[in-house]
Amino acid sequence: MIENTLVLIKPDAFDKKYTGRILTCYEENGLKIKALKLLKMTPELAAKHYAEHIGKDFYDELVGFMTSAPLVAMVLTGENAIAKVRALNGATNPEKAAAGTIRKEYAQSVQHNAVHASDGLESAAREIHIFFNETEIFD
Ligand code: TYD
Ligand code: MG
Repeated sequence: MIENTLVLIKPDAFDKKYTGRILTCYEENGLKIKALKLLKMTPELAAKHYAEHIGKDFYDELVGFMTSAPLVAMVLTGENAIAKVRALNGATNPEKAAAGTIRKEYAQSVQHNAVHASDGLESAAREIHIFFNETEIFD
């Protein structure tokens, strides 16, 4: 099934100039960019994006980090894009991420873990529209 997914290159990886290498990884693995922008997250945007994590012990630090500097937001599309991107990203904790995954290569810690990707069809549809209008998404 052709799916769309929302991907963020988080402030740590953007600041370290890993954007080009991360985009190359996605493109070389059959994914296509449908939308792309640079932005700085606000606490309000973070609360929408990370609604499922509000109240958890790591939430305030997570929002502090995600709002600290610019990040790259994109919509990727392709066959099984949601599972494919999460596999390319690797485990949330880079210490547990498989060799060759983006988080193994470019992440420092559970919080500073380089990338975000939607975890299902519903979250993808929801997250894409937090960051993009229909006019910003191309086929
Ligand atoms: P989660 O949705 O569990 O992971 P993923 O990004 O792999 O879908 O968590 C969202 C983000 O919250 C995660 O990328 C980094 C941060 N986080 C922490 O800072 N500490 C933690 O203990 C966990 C589980 C997540
Ligand atoms: Mg998640």
